[in-house]
Amino acid sequence: MASSSSLILLLVLLHVLMVFNVGDGGEMVSMEDGELLGLFEVMGSLLDDPTWAQMHPQPCTDTPWPGVQCELMAQEDGEKGSQDYNPTIFHVTKIHIGTDILTPPCKPNASLSSTGLMKLPYLKTLSLFNCFNVTPVSLTSSLFENNSLSSLEHLALVSNPSLHGSIPSILGYLQSLRVLSLSQNKLTGEIPQEICGLVNLQQLDLSYNHLTGSVPQEIGKLKSLTIFDLSYNMIGGQLPSSFGQLQSLQKIDLGFNNITGRVPQEVGNLSKLVLFDLSQNFLTGPLPESLSGLKELEYLVMQDNPINTGMPLFIGSLGRLKVLSFSRCGLIGHIVTYLSILKNLTALSLDNNSLNGTVPSYIGSLPNLEQLNLSQNQLSGELLVSQEFINRIGMRLDIRGNNGLCIKNNTLSEVKNPISCVSSRSRTSGNKSSWGDQEEDVHKDECGNMNSNLYQSNWSPKNHHHGYGFRLGLDQMFLVMIFLLL
Ligand SMILES: *[C@@H]1O[C@H](CO)[C@@H](O)[C@H](O)[C@H]1NC(C)=O
Ligand SMILES: *[C@@H]1O[C@H](CO)[C@@H](O)[C@H](O)[C@H]1NC(C)=O
Ligand SMILES: *[C@@H]1O[C@H](CO)[C@@H](O)[C@H](O)[C@H]1NC(C)=O
Ligand SMILES: *[C@@H]1O[C@H](CO)[C@@H](O)[C@H](O)[C@H]1NC(C)=O
Ligand SMILES: *[C@@H]1O[C@H](CO)[C@@H](O)[C@H](O)[C@H]1NC(C)=O
Ligand SMILES: *[C@@H]1O[C@H](CO)[C@@H](O)[C@H](O)[C@H]1NC(C)=O
Ligand SMILES: *[C@@H]1O[C@H](CO)[C@@H](O)[C@H](O)[C@H]1NC(C)=O
Ligand SMILES: *[C@@H]1O[C@H](CO)[C@@H](O)[C@H](O)[C@H]1NC(C)=O
Ligand SMILES: *[C@@H]1O[C@H](CO)[C@@H](O)[C@H](O)[C@H]1NC(C)=O
Ligand SMILES: *[C@@H]1O[C@H](CO)[C@@H](O)[C@H](O)[C@H]1NC(C)=O
Repeated sequence: MASSSSLILLLVLLHVLMVFNVGDGGEMVSMEDGELLGLFEVMGSLLDDPTWAQMHPQPCTDTPWPGVQCELMAQEDGEKGSQDYNPTIFHVTKIHIGTDILTPPCKPNASLSSTGLMKLPYLKTLSLFNCFNVTPVSLTSSLFENNSLSSLEHLALVSNPSLHGSIPSILGYLQSLRVLSLSQNKLTGEIPQEICGLVNLQQLDLSYNHLTGSVPQEIGKLKSLTIFDLSYNMIGGQLPSSFGQLQSLQKIDLGFNNITGRVPQEVGNLSKLVLFDLSQNFLTGPLPESLSGLKELEYLVMQDNPINTGMPLFIGSLGRLKVLSFSRCGLIGHIVTYLSILKNLTALSLDNNSLNGTVPSYIGSLPNLEQLNLSQNQLSGELLVSQEFINRIGMRLDIRGNNGLCIKNNTLSEVKNPISCVSSRSRTSGNKSSWGDQEEDVHKDECGNMNSNLYQSNWSPKNHHHGYGFRLGLDQMFLVMIFLLL
């Protein structure tokens, strides 16, 4: 009984498979031959697996591969009257190769097959991560000629050390593109202004390349843009005022470039901006007070720019700020009192400026502060802090290199290694007035542990290898968002 019923089941299954497989003249076609050949060509040019085509003769149905996705779509052409007409057919819509699929992902002499890609007109996602490592590959115009890849919505060629050359202006023809990520390659040359014609673009990430030139004036046309990341290139010139038109922007990262001039007033119009990173450029002050319009801003990272003004007033309007960095910006004058409203602030970096006067007492009571760097200024007096504050911020507090800035002793009575103006003075032979000035004595005195901890904090707003902690979080958020959109 059992064996005969399983035999029947097997026969039924076989029948289904055969029906599915029949190409010419059959009742059902799983996918078009040309498209299948195109996929074989593309895979053959990328993977170190000569048997791929044999192992995956039906990549959309019976012999799938994790990096290839297909979608069942209505047939566009075909004789509707004919008996053979099949209303639906599979098309290859996604190719993704990366270390999550294979290691190594691609063969050493991997290349992009333009003839193969041309036969995949339904491809929506092409994502190659860490694929081109040895043989030089460039984005030639022929890849995009004759309407090839015109359905692409998501093009991500990321972390390919041998992907070099310039970004071809013909990319501007990919009118369906929503995500363009060419991050961590060796791309050179200027950003073609044709990119600014991709009006559906939501994410543009060209970070970690060797791009030069300036941000195109036409950037204002990308009205759907939410993420704009050009960090770690050699982009110069000034920021175009048309930035102000990109009202959907949530993240701008232009850190580590050669951008000069002032931040345009119009940037204050970006009311959805959450992250604004201009660190390590040549931007000069004053910053426009219109930036008080950035009501959603949580991360303002300006460090390493010759701003050379007093602390800007608009910061007091940015109630959502979590991270504020003006390290090495040539700030002068006092630390302003209006920062007291920034209740969500977790990191404040004002180190290596020319700030003077005393530190306002509210700093010691900002309820969420976890990093405070005031080192290398001309601050003086006592930093009034609660013990709870010291417990929370511990080794991420740095007040070295000031004019006698010290921490009130009686609040520290229960702290293991108290940092105090008085105790520091008494422990050294000289009469230096603050702990903060005693860099040389760091490893000698009783505060040794605490002090060296302070210095060795691993907090750094920008980390070459891992990016920001917060950057990860934000990107994940956007990924989820984009996933939902796609
Ligand atoms: C890539 O290398 C393999 C051997 O590793 C060779 O058989 C093949 O012809 C090469 N392909 C190209 C396009 O150079
Ligand atoms: C695009 O079409 C033109 C004219 O048909 C042809 O000469 C050219 O080779 C095609 N380009 C590619 C990359 O196939
Ligand atoms: C960018 O700035 C650096 C540092 O001043 C300089 O060495 C480099 O030549 C500049 N690069 C370009 C492309 O302007
Ligand atoms: C953008 O900002 C500028 C200057 O701050 C202002 O004059 C302009 O009206 C704003 N544009 C929009 C669309 O809000
Ligand atoms: C501070 O953060 C909390 C939790 O993330 C949030 O609910 C609140 O709205 C924030 N406050 C401001 C002023 O943005
Ligand atoms: C603080 O710096 C400002 C600006 O450089 C200067 O005018 C002022 O005299 C300084 N105040 C003190 C007490 O040093
Ligand atoms: C402070 O910044 C100057 C230039 O802005 C730099 O030369 C110096 O090394 C910095 N000092 C510290 C302690 O980072
Ligand atoms: C400073 O704090 C330490 C440790 O709590 C204590 O021993 C010392 O007497 C205090 N000094 C003054 C002047 O309060
Ligand atoms: C203490 O400071 C005063 C004034 O700054 C100075 O004259 C004196 O030599 C210092 N004493 C010691 C022991 O360093
Ligand atoms: C504070 O800033 C100084 C100077 O920019 C830097 O050398 C130091 O490592 C920073 N301290 C912490 C705890 O990050």
